Amino acid sequence: MSDPLRPRASLRTAVVWDVLQDALDRRVKVTGRDALDVLDTGGGSGNFAVPVARLGHRVTVVDPSPNALFALERRAAEAGVADRVQGVQGDAHGLFDVVERGGYDVVLCHGVLEYVDDPAEGVRNVVAALRGEGVLSLLAAGLGGAVLARALAGHFKEAKQALQDPNGRWGESDPVPHRFTAEQLTALVEEAGLRVGAVHGVRVFADLVPGVLVDTEPGALEALLKLEAAVAETPAFHSVATQLHVLGETRGTAGA
Ligand SMILES: C[S@@+](CC[C@H](N)C(=O)[O-])C[C@H]1O[C@@H](n2cnc3c(N)ncnc32)[C@H](O)[C@@H]1O
Repeated sequence: MSDPLRPRASLRTAVVWDVLQDALDRRVKVTGRDALDVLDTGGGSGNFAVPVARLGHRVTVVDPSPNALFALERRAAEAGVADRVQGVQGDAHGLFDVVERGGYDVVLCHGVLEYVDDPAEGVRNVVAALRGEGVLSLLAAGLGGAVLARALAGHFKEAKQALQDPNGRWGESDPVPHRFTAEQLTALVEEAGLRVGAVHGVRVFADLVPGVLVDTEPGALEALLKLEAAVAETPAFHSVATQLHVLGETRGTAGA
C-alpha cells in the first residue's frame, strides 16, 4: 500500500499492511470466497479501507466523524472502489446499532482503542462483529514508544509520568487517552474470546530518526523499511514500539 508520492507514509503502514494482506489472503483461501466482508471500525478516511477494497473485498467503515466519512467517500471514488466501500456514522460503543453482529470475516480496529472510553468493551464489540470464523486486526498506541519519544525529546518528567500513569498518558495536554503494552492488548483480545495469532511492533525507529536522514541518504528509506520489518517480529522491541499490532483469530479458525 506504499504511496509513490508519499514514500515516507509507507513507514507508518508497511508492517501492518503486510500482516493484514497476508491474513486476508489466508481467509480467501480458507473460505473459498474472493470477496470477503470486512469491517473497519474507526476507519476514518480510508487509509486501510480503500486499499483493502482495491483487493476486491467489501468494506464497511464505521466512524463517528462526518468529515472523515466524506473524505472516505471521495477517496473510494477516486480509487474506483466506491461500489465496495460503505461509510456509516457510528462508534465502537454502539457498533450494533449500525452494523450486523457476527457479519464479518475480518474486522479492523486501527488507532481507535486509544480513544474509546472502555477499551475492554471496545474489543468485545469488534470481536462480536466477527463471523464464527474470522480475524481481528488490532492496532493501538504502545506505552513504551511514548515513554522513549518523550525522553529523547528531553521531556524526562513527562516520560516518567507516562510510564507510571495507568493509561500511559504523559500529562494533561497529552492528546491520547490510552496507551497499551503488548501484554495488555493480548489480554484484551484473549478475554474477548480470540486466540492471539501474532504480535508486531510498529514504528520502532521510524518516528525517532531525523527525517533528513531518511529523505536525503540514498537507499535509507528502503533500508529503514527492512529494519522495521525485522524488528516488528522481535519481541524485545515490542516494548519500545510507537504502535502495537495484534492479530486475533477466532478459536478453531483453520489457517486464519
Ligand atoms: C487515528 S484515526 C485512525 C483512522 C484509521 N483507522 C487509520 O488507521 O488510518 C482514529 C479514528 O477513530 C475514530 N474514532 C474516535 N473515537 C471512536 C470511537 N469511539 N469509535 C469508533 N471510531 C472512533 C476517529 O473519528 C478517527 O477517524
